[in-house]
Amino acid sequence: MTSQILRDARKYEEERERKIAKEPRPAFHLSARVGWMNDPNGLSFYKNEYHLFYQYHPFSAYWGPMHWGHAVSSDLLHWKHLPVALAPDMDYDRDGCFSGNAVVLPDGSHMLMYTGVVKEAQPDGSMREVQTQCLAIGDGMDYEKYAENPVIDEKSLPEGGSRFDFRDPKLWKKADGSYRCVMGNCTADHDGQVLLYSSPDGFHWKYEKILAANRGRFGRMWECPDFFALDGKQVLLVSPQDMMPQGFEYHNGNGTLCLIGSYDEETDTFTEEKDQTVDYGIDFYAPQTILAPDGRRIMIGWMQNWDTCNLHAPERPWFGQMSLPRELSIKNGRLFQQPVKELEAMRSNEVRYENVSVTDVIKLDGIKGRRIDMELSVRPGDEENIYRKFSVRFAQDDIYQTSVSFRPYESILKVDRKHSGSRRAIIHQRRSLVRSEAGRLKLRIILDYFSVEVFVNDGEQVVSATLYTEPGVDGISFYADGLVNMDVVKYDLTEA
Ligand code: FRU
Repeated sequence: MTSQILRDARKYEEERERKIAKEPRPAFHLSARVGWMNDPNGLSFYKNEYHLFYQYHPFSAYWGPMHWGHAVSSDLLHWKHLPVALAPDMDYDRDGCFSGNAVVLPDGSHMLMYTGVVKEAQPDGSMREVQTQCLAIGDGMDYEKYAENPVIDEKSLPEGGSRFDFRDPKLWKKADGSYRCVMGNCTADHDGQVLLYSSPDGFHWKYEKILAANRGRFGRMWECPDFFALDGKQVLLVSPQDMMPQGFEYHNGNGTLCLIGSYDEETDTFTEEKDQTVDYGIDFYAPQTILAPDGRRIMIGWMQNWDTCNLHAPERPWFGQMSLPRELSIKNGRLFQQPVKELEAMRSNEVRYENVSVTDVIKLDGIKGRRIDMELSVRPGDEENIYRKFSVRFAQDDIYQTSVSFRPYESILKVDRKHSGSRRAIIHQRRSLVRSEAGRLKLRIILDYFSVEVFVNDGEQVVSATLYTEPGVDGISFYADGLVNMDVVKYDLTEA
């Protein structure tokens, strides 16, 4: 049974979609069907397709009462929008259906677990959002909210755990058929923690323990946890709010944190060994992973950041896009990311150059475009006298350019979108420390009209940023202060 509120939302998005003039969109990054999109939700494989839901406010291009948008794909790159899956239409979620995840139940149905939000008047007159965890069961198109919702509420919190910051369940099925779930939460003094729950059937949940605690290290509230085994290690991803910067590793504001360690399944004990940022760029948050049928661990994040996402023009008919799906691995104790291999099937029009000398500014015949996959291999042209700076500039004409530049003496990589057409005083640049031996660096740059994702040194680091330069501005040039020797291969990424 669909509610009137859901039917109205479905009708609205259909009508609105028809009214939106055809305008350029990302081709292989999922963007909001209409209105606003934030976090990826419910990333799962069901009935032979990938399902990706998302935090969605169809009625405007700004955040509002959260729905779950829905899209399906067979290759994680070409997405088909389906009708909005969840609307805030019950007493226990009337102010929003926040982030969550999905599993396939033994009877073949698809189960979504999400955070239900209800505003509650406080004794001092203020309103706060109480958060509980709820279920909806469906067939890949229509979802019915579970009669016993919520299935996890404040009764299942550790002492001092906040019922206002208690959200974003990520659940998975264990080999023995039982379920586990991790959730973001805050202590009484507003410090992030990840809670672990268990269930024999996905419906009845029991609080187990605090799986990981921030202890004041990385921001405050920890949103959107994900927890999985990878290459013999255990990974905990969280998105901390209110971060303070730490060197070039963590920046101010909302960040993404990857804790790598080991996990004792008998005692549910996670032992941290290392920490790092997930994405070193400007726009990346709230990632979620899936274990694909072929065993790959694939991650998708929201390619935006909370500090700037509300500064766009109000007349935009859609706002928000996902990152590329990225295959994860652990090498030398670090999280590596590579674009999903399915992207290679979209490559066409190869243009290749080897051993190009770059001094000052050069352009290369055939190297241009705004939907491209370009690999650069950069080394000093003179080993005795290493170049001081190398840049690649794209989305470029006489007025505009966005750039990625590298200074080997400092080993700093910088993305700069100051000249991408932005009229706001938002963050336009970000620097990160990269690994480079004697001026050698590998970059794989993926452009899809309104974004750049730079995979550094075979995915050891990734730098993502959105840009809004008109898609027709498609020039690319290279610059060196000193002498650089470079190999380039560029493919167009066309809609297959
Ligand atoms: C993260 C987040 C989640 C929440 C959702 C609300 O970006 O704040 O914690 O569930 O967005 O839209």
